[in-house]
Parts: sequence; C-alpha cells; structure tokens
Amino acid sequence: MNEEISKGDRKRNGRFSSENEDGFVNPYHTHPPDFKRLGERFETFKPFVRYHPNGQSYIDFKNPAALRELTRCLLRQDFDLKVMLPEDRLCPTVRPIHYVCLLSQIFAHLRKHDLVPKEHRLKVLDVGTGATPIYALLMARLHPDSTVWATDINSESLQYAQETIDLNPDLAQRISLCKVDPAGEILLPVSQTAQRSPPIFTFTLCNPPFYTSREEMAAASDIKIESGHAAPTAAENELITPGGEVMFVCKMIEESLSSRQGALWYTSLLGKASSIAPVHAKLLENKINNYFISSIRQSRTARWIVGWSFTDHRLPDSLTRTSSPATVKYLPLPNSFQLHPSTNSLSLLKQHLTEVLTDIGLLQGQVSGTEDWHKHPDLDQYTLLLRPTAQSWSRSARRKAGRTSAGTDSSAGTEPLFTGRLEICLHVQDRSTEKRREASPTRGSRSEQLAQTHMSFHWDQGRSRLNVETFWAYVVRKMQERLVGTSTRASPLDDRNIGRI
Ligand SMILES: C[S@@+](CC[C@H](N)C(=O)[O-])C[C@H]1O[C@@H](n2cnc3c(N)ncnc32)[C@H](O)[C@@H]1O
Repeated sequence: MNEEISKGDRKRNGRFSSENEDGFVNPYHTHPPDFKRLGERFETFKPFVRYHPNGQSYIDFKNPAALRELTRCLLRQDFDLKVMLPEDRLCPTVRPIHYVCLLSQIFAHLRKHDLVPKEHRLKVLDVGTGATPIYALLMARLHPDSTVWATDINSESLQYAQETIDLNPDLAQRISLCKVDPAGEILLPVSQTAQRSPPIFTFTLCNPPFYTSREEMAAASDIKIESGHAAPTAAENELITPGGEVMFVCKMIEESLSSRQGALWYTSLLGKASSIAPVHAKLLENKINNYFISSIRQSRTARWIVGWSFTDHRLPDSLTRTSSPATVKYLPLPNSFQLHPSTNSLSLLKQHLTEVLTDIGLLQGQVSGTEDWHKHPDLDQYTLLLRPTAQSWSRSARRKAGRTSAGTDSSAGTEPLFTGRLEICLHVQDRSTEKRREASPTRGSRSEQLAQTHMSFHWDQGRSRLNVETFWAYVVRKMQERLVGTSTRASPLDDRNIGRI
C-alpha cells in the first residue's frame, strides 16, 4: 500500500494547487475521481472497484463501506487529510468540497475588491460539525491562515471529531470544538462576539439535519434516503431535528437578525428543493435582500446553498445566480449589468464612455474617487473603478451642475454611494467559412475574425440598488444616443428591476 502522498503528486493532480486569485476551484468538477487509479494507490479501496464491459471503472454507491473508503482515500490523496469514519455515523461524500470552494471563492472576491480589511483572517463557524468534521478540516486545509469553530450537540460525535482532528496535527491548533445546547442558540459563538469590531467571523456554514421526524425520514427512504451522504447508517441526531432543515435554517436567520455583522456571510446547505421557498420567504419577510441561493449537482443528487448578509457587500452573479430549475424563481436581483454595443471599436467605445462619465463628473470630476482606466496586461480589456459620492447623473444634479461649472456637484458627500467596476472589452471570435471549391479549389476554408465589443458594470459594494440602477440606466441611455444607428442591447436591467429593493 502506498498511502504517502508526495508534494509532486498533489501538484500533478492539480488538487491542492488550484487556488488562484479567484479562490479554490473544485477539483472534482473537471477531474472526477478515477476509481481505477485510486484502487491502484490504496489497497483498501481496490476491492470496491468494479469494471464495466468497456473497461470503465465504477463503485457501488449503495454500499456504505465502499463510500467510506472512497471518502477516506480521496481526502487522503487530494487534501492530505486523515479521517476516521465511524460506521454508526454519517459518511460525508465529496459534496462538502463544492460548498467549501464556493466560500473560498466568495472570500477571494471580498479580498480582491477590498471588502474585508487586509488583516482580516478567515474565521469560520461550522454549525453541527458531526463525527467527521469534514467542513472544518477542509476549510483549515485550504486556507492555512484560517481558524474554525465547530459546534455540535452530540458528545459522542464531538469525541469522534476530536480523534479525527488529532490525526491531522498540523491543523489541530486552528480547529476548536464546542458542545452546544440543542435548546440554545445555534449561532452562539457568533452572538458572543457580535459586538466586536471589526467582525470576527467571515462565514457560518452548516449542513443541518434534514428531517422533522422518523416518519418523514422513513417516507423519504422510499424515494432516497441520504442527507448529502449515501450511507444510511446515521445516528438520529444527525438526520432529525424539530421542524426539519427549514426550521433549523429559519432559526439561524432569526438569530442572525441580532448578531447581524457578527458574521460577514451566514450560509447553510439545503437538502430538499421544497425547503427553498420557505427559507427564501423568511429572508424576504425580514427584509434581507442581500442573499444568494446556489445549487450543487453531484451525479443525480442536487443540493442548494443559501447565504445571506447584513453587510453592503455585493457578490458577483457568477457565484450567486447559478440557476437550477428549483432556484430560478428565488434568485436575487442581479449585481452585474451588460451592454452589447454593436461597434467593434474598443477605442471608440472607451472614448464615448469617458465623455459620458466626464459629463457627470465621474471622470476627472469632483464627485468620485474614480481612478483612471486600468488596462488588462494581456487582454483587450479596460476597467474603471467607480466610487461616486453623489447622484450626479440625476436630472436635478445635472440641471444644478449646468448652472455652475460642468460636471461639478456641490452636494457631493464623502462616502461613496456605491463601489463598482465598469469594464469594456473586445472579444475576437474565429470563424471558419467554407469557401466554394469552384472559386478557389486549392483553399478549402478561410479564417474569419469577428470582433465584438462588450460593456459591463459590476456592483461590488453599497446598499441602495436604486443608485446603481439609475446610474446604469443613465450610462446605457447616453451610450445608445452616442452609438446611434447601432443595435445596442442592454441586459439584464429593465423596468422590472428598477427600484425593487
Ligand atoms: C447532517 S449532520 C452534519 C454533519 C457534518 N457537518 C457533515 O456534513 O457531514 C447534522 C449535525 O448537526 C448537529 N446538530 C443538530 N442540532 C444542532 C444544534 N442546535 N447545534 C449544533 N449542531 C447541531 C447534529 O448532531 C449533527 O451532527
């Protein structure tokens, strides 16, 4: 058996090394586990590997022992983690990696756009860590600076969890286990530190028990009994909680109303599509409009991650608006806006946009901390960071500015109304067209390049959606006037979105 994993192996696998400035990328997304290779490396896994007639390897996902061994070997191979997987407890699958990678990408976004202070260290509360504290271990492993608080109500699970943590001495110092009272606050560690400024916790995460009762669990087992875990060998406390996952997550939402910015983002897994509507309703009922519902698909099973925040951070649509049929009705309003001008001249687009922004004092003006255009080193792409301190695009501000000198607004404050990025770029597409043989019998095809400009605005920070949407509507209108005769299309902003929050 060769269980020792060399640094070279990890690098070649691309698992550990996949962090970039956008956070960790789920390694299994592009490289699903290779059961044959895993069997060759781990003697203990070999007996579970089966082969289709075409030679493709597989395992029996209904066999709890096979799943336990798969989890153990993948965590060992790809994350250098040693875990104990007790037979009488849930066996986590690789799904936690999706969740952890999403949080890692959100954290990278917060850091990249200065939404957290440079000195902020990732701190996570893992609610209901279970007998195998998989989320705590992955978080600690992927983020060497992070610390994790992990809670549970079950003493035996916490004992198992401590044994596993002790198997990974390099992480043990950064993971603290904490027994909590089932009748007490779920987010206790956050509420205890909520008054501290700056906030202590970056994220709370949770894989809550699913079911309301044994009866519901038994009924569900006819369809599919697994709570993000395939082994039906769970202890009752792991799967059942009064009111099921809906009540559990709604209670966290209620508690977060008191601790508010005690955590930057509160998040939880949802195991049932039917839970999305009541959880979404709870968020809206409490006027929490900064939220996301992201979906995870692993083989044939779908899960969802809901997150909400009391900060003015706005996350990119790419992280928060992943749509699945179950979430489409509940997605938050977009934070990114697009315009497709049909000019293929990036310099013309930049010139018009510069003039539009200068007219309202946002470039070389007095109402913003706007920097100059920043050119991407490798791409035909320019970015402009905007921090307007007054609504200089409103009709009244423009009228007032007209009476004084152009582009100024004496009512400008010092706090930005929002922070966002305007991006313009040129996409060049290669198109091969078949040339008629008669016209040129020696050349069968010709390469044609199609250039297309693109403009977008990404809202990174701020509370008022109205400010952002009126700004974007103004810019779109002015650009459409300037690029008159071109079929400029804007999306996704339309009348339905304006002023809904
Ligand atoms: C579905 S299991 C998740 C275990 C582990 N996090 C995982 O994903 O593999 C739910 C866990 O939440 C714990 N739990 C239930 N109520 C809790 C509460 N009020 N506070 C903290 N943990 C709780 C259970 O004991 C159980 O370990």
